[in-house]
Order: sequence, then C-alpha cells, then structure tokens
Amino acid sequence: MELTEAMRTTGTCRYFRPDPVPDEVLHRAVDAARFAPQGGNRQPVRWVVVRDPDRRQALADLYLPLWKAYLGRRSGGRIDYERLPRSVRDADHFAEHLAEVPAIVVACAELAALYPTDTGLGRLSVVGGGSIYPTVQNLCLALRGEGVASAMTTLLCTVEPQVRELLAIPDDMITAAHIAIGYPERPFPTTLTRAPVAEIVYADTFGRACFPPDA
Ligand SMILES: Cc1cc2nc3c(=O)[nH]c(=O)nc-3n(C[C@H](O)[C@H](O)[C@H](O)COP(=O)(O)O)c2cc1C
Repeated sequence: MELTEAMRTTGTCRYFRPDPVPDEVLHRAVDAARFAPQGGNRQPVRWVVVRDPDRRQALADLYLPLWKAYLGRRSGGRIDYERLPRSVRDADHFAEHLAEVPAIVVACAELAALYPTDTGLGRLSVVGGGSIYPTVQNLCLALRGEGVASAMTTLLCTVEPQVRELLAIPDDMITAAHIAIGYPERPFPTTLTRAPVAEIVYADTFGRACFPPDA
C-alpha cells in the first residue's frame, strides 16, 4: 500500500469483525513497527497481545466505566444518546463491544529507558512518550497495510495497576496505550477530519502563516 494513502486513512476503527488477526500478519506489522525511532535507541517498547477471551473481557470491564465517566463529563452529567455526535456514538459502541474485538495490544514501555528532557519546566512532561508513540503509530500503519484496522486508546492507562496485575506486567514497565485491532466491519475511511495545512504550519515565527489557505 502506498505510504501517503496509509497515513491518510488509518482512522480509529469502531466496528470490528470477529475473525482473528493471523500470527503472521501481526508478526509482519510488529516487524515493521519496531523501526520507529526512540531516544538513544533504547528500544523501551514491549507489546502484550491480549487474545484470551477472559482477559479481553476483563480489560473491557475496566474500560467501560472509564468511558461512561468520560462521556458523562463530556455531556455535562446527563448522557443524551440520541443527540451525541456520530463519532461519539461510534466510540460508545466500541466501548460496549470492546471484549469482542479479536485482540487488544497493550503497548508497554520500560520506564528507565525513557529519557524525558522536559521534566524541569513545571508543566506536563511529554517527551518520554516520544519514545513510545511513534512505534505505536507505526504499528497502526503497518496493520493498515495488511488490511487490519486499529483503535488506539489510552483510557485504560488510568487503571494501570489493575491492567498490570491482569497481564503480569512487571513493575518497571508502564502502560502507554491499548490498541484494539482486527479486520474492519466497514471500509476504511477515505477522509479523516483534520485541520488544514495552512492553519497548522507557521513560517519562522509562531502564528505567521507558511502556506496560503488550501484551495
Ligand atoms: C493519544 C490518544 C488517545 C486516545 N484514547 C482513546 C480512548 O481512550 N478511547 C477512544 O475511544 N479513543 C481514543 N483515541 C482515539 C481518538 O478518539 C481518535 O483518534 C479521534 O477521535 C480521531 O478519530 P479518527 O482518527 O478516526 O479521525 C485516542 C487517540 C489518541 C491519539
């Protein structure tokens, strides 16, 4: 598959078919994903592929209340399902059916192998994640190339201790994302909603447009 097309169409899948992702497909995807860069080439990422139905159910049981709480906050306390935007209704369906997704891939990372350079700035530190999420996105892109859809999630990171216990993740590893993967029930999206280039690229100083508005 052409690279740009993969980048433009790797959306967040909300409806999965039940058929499993074969080992050889997953192997090829991880084989490509591991070439993402990480600080100092320390390669902190480890994957736990959760296919066991009981463990998937346990993850889904942990996920659903986190999702409903998020949805409640987003809706100002009272969820009116009829009035939810389509994308949120789809995400709600995803939450209700997470246990049925054929695999949930947990991206773990060795904490000591991250090198966050922005911890002394008195704000949220994000640089450590830079050694993890390029690999995660590479995995999603590589799976896309194989015709496999994905949904990257982070809500379960809230309950890392429970996930750690469920999957026997060692104390020196953290959880960074939980990626639902499987063959999509619907065609891959052709257009994802993103801000236009003209709005997000600046020339020399922040805020000074680099490109004219897209035609
Ligand atoms: C860092 C990150 C965390 C996310 N966490 C969740 C999550 O916990 N649950 C969920 O349903 N979607 C999650 N998503 C998916 C986003 O909601 C989704 O990418 C966004 O709505 C855009 O959808 P699209 O890529 O299909 O256009 C996450 C995405 C990212 C990049």
